[in-house]
Amino acid sequence: MRLTDEEKSMRDGAEGPAVAAAMDLLVRYGEALGAERLCDTRNVAGTMTQPSPVKARLVEEGGWAKSFSVINLDSDDDIEIPRMKVPMCQLQHGFSADVRGHAPYPEASIVLQDDAESYFSDRGVNILATCTPYQVGNLPVRGEHCAWMESSAVVYCNSVLGARTNCEGTASTGAAGLTGKIPYWGNHIPENRIGTRLVEARVDVDGFQDWGMFGYFVGDAVQEERPVISGRWARPDLTDLKHFGAATATAGGVEIFHIPGLTPEAVSLEGAFGGRPVPEPIVYGERERRQVYETLNSQGSSTDVDFVLLGCPHASVDQIARAARALEGRRIKDGVELWIMTPRALRSVADRNGYTETIQRAGGQLLTDSCPAMSRVAPPGTRVFASDSAKQVHYLPAILGIEGWFGTLEECVDAAITGTWRGELA
Ligand code: F3S
Repeated sequence: MRLTDEEKSMRDGAEGPAVAAAMDLLVRYGEALGAERLCDTRNVAGTMTQPSPVKARLVEEGGWAKSFSVINLDSDDDIEIPRMKVPMCQLQHGFSADVRGHAPYPEASIVLQDDAESYFSDRGVNILATCTPYQVGNLPVRGEHCAWMESSAVVYCNSVLGARTNCEGTASTGAAGLTGKIPYWGNHIPENRIGTRLVEARVDVDGFQDWGMFGYFVGDAVQEERPVISGRWARPDLTDLKHFGAATATAGGVEIFHIPGLTPEAVSLEGAFGGRPVPEPIVYGERERRQVYETLNSQGSSTDVDFVLLGCPHASVDQIARAARALEGRRIKDGVELWIMTPRALRSVADRNGYTETIQRAGGQLLTDSCPAMSRVAPPGTRVFASDSAKQVHYLPAILGIEGWFGTLEECVDAAITGTWRGELA
């Protein structure tokens, strides 16, 4: 890998041992990937504060410096960690204090995470604590090189914002934060962003549920390729696009998609394929739509729902407002829990607008920072859950050994009120 003089001097220790270890890691990582050089980044989204047994042991042995050195810098040395060189944020992590009384989540993890937040805040890490950093102020501009983790955020960053990131890891984001560098490969290279597969909707794709199901189909059909979408889609909003992207990255490994006339790197169908011949389409019709719905609902057998989960990826203010409207004046059935996951910054908007109070008056909870899949926890005794998120329905049954139903927000709220799943495909 070719390094600039500045990069060589960082590697050789001119900016201290932590930056040297970070540069060493990035060079090893880049060479393993076949990258020829590094590029500059000023937008890093990673994870440092998520509690785990390994982290607890390392912190016990040598504090957060030891934990960061081992986990984020792949170094056995005990290195003092300086302030991050470029803007960096913490993505979703474990649950915080607001989960107390609602799930059997270890108090020790809450305390450990609180401690981590103050250590890394002092080093310039913004504790956004969400899988949707783009909803709460971390919004890169088109073409900007980023270093992000979290598959649903990565596909949104590349596709909807037109910024450039690979699906990075704990170590590479830690090193990027300290150096402002990341290997130039994969999605950073313009040619690797051009569409490779065409998926044509021959049935209407309109609204949150349909964008989620369509995303699940697209991800399964193209796996790690770069889909271009055509056909009968109605203009999506931020919420639809985050659901769509998350589903493509769940059923497959999509990191970038294009919707000609909508997403920034696809002004036309031909442009989305970079002037190369447009391939034959993969067709999404009525039959495929029903198959996706049945796949997502294949993990439910009992209609007795005891847990309803909304907000995966973390809910927008609009989604919270819709849930509050659906819950207004109603009461969640005894023995059923309803959680809505959202970034803490949006929770404060929901508090000010009275949405939180409406949701809580109905017996629901607006929780922040994490989700059941990330923290591997649900309300005690959960056997059957329902969600409007294709991603959560895909993962949670396997993670927690529970049954799952997929439907609309209104069907999920109905399940919370009645304790019974009555959803069906419209
Ligand atoms: Fe976010 Fe958890 Fe879904 S981290 S994308 S709410 S699985």
